Amino acid sequence: MSLNLPFPHRHLLGIAPLTAPEILFLLDEAERWVALNRAAAVKHDDSLAGLTQINAFFENSTRTLLSFEIAGKRLGADVVNMAVAQSSVKKGETLIDTAVTLDAMHADMLVIRHQASGAVQLIADKVDCPVLNAGDGQHEHPTQALLDALTIRRRKGRIERLVIAICGDIMHSRVARSDIISLQKLGAHVRIVGPSTLIPPHIEALGVEIFHDLDKAIAGADVVMMLRLQTERMAGGFIPSLREYHALFGLTVEKLKLAAEDVLVMHPGPLNRGVEIDSAVADDLKYSAITEQVEMGVAMRMACLDVLTRQRRGVKGWA
Ligand code: CP
Repeated sequence: MSLNLPFPHRHLLGIAPLTAPEILFLLDEAERWVALNRAAAVKHDDSLAGLTQINAFFENSTRTLLSFEIAGKRLGADVVNMAVAQSSVKKGETLIDTAVTLDAMHADMLVIRHQASGAVQLIADKVDCPVLNAGDGQHEHPTQALLDALTIRRRKGRIERLVIAICGDIMHSRVARSDIISLQKLGAHVRIVGPSTLIPPHIEALGVEIFHDLDKAIAGADVVMMLRLQTERMAGGFIPSLREYHALFGLTVEKLKLAAEDVLVMHPGPLNRGVEIDSAVADDLKYSAITEQVEMGVAMRMACLDVLTRQRRGVKGWA
């Protein structure tokens, strides 16, 4: 692709390779789809008519899988969800052979979620079509970071100079990693907080401010982003108990009073209610943008599918 394009990338594998103008370009593109998604009757556009989108999720998902499926269908693509549990992966077929097989069926877009960091890059190196990373291990979840940035920009009017606290299980969170990179590129001041066992080593290299006290981290924050405690990725004693974790790092109505008066509360989902966030906070629409994040996920994924297939579709200026 030409370097003069506003988005000169063949794949969307992470936020790290993107510049701030490229991220902002995708956010602006997503704005176009928000109104269509809110239409009472026809939520359809035929931009991707005739193209085949394959979603291959090797890890569970509700939001990302469904929003990619809805996004592709709203843009007119033929969308196929690979049933991994019933696939030949269960007979021992390798990831590369699986990718080559999907490519041989002339897929035009592959959306991949995988439990191993780097697996999506491995697939992208073997196929001809654009590959979108729907979350790989503890590495990146770029469309989540993009939809989070879109939600913040719509609610706050800007991202630059906002104080954003990302709280909880930073260690196992690809969302945290992608959000940190994206929000810093867009000029926010990012604080992270969690028990020392859940803060990855060398995270300060990303330029964040590190806290181990939730009260101090959220004091005056414009945005408080809570993360799911990923117990399925924990093979040891990362926390003494859920009760203690909630007492120290759970977001309650009382603790939220320490943040800015107009604080925005976010969570990528799924929620562990009563662990990292209380229902009274998650469900208070005065602060909580959690359902709006889900809504923006569809618009954001429509934008990504549209932009990444422009060259293949011969869109004027992109071919
Ligand atoms: N936020 C997120 O990735 O949710 P799912 O696991 O439900 O897709």
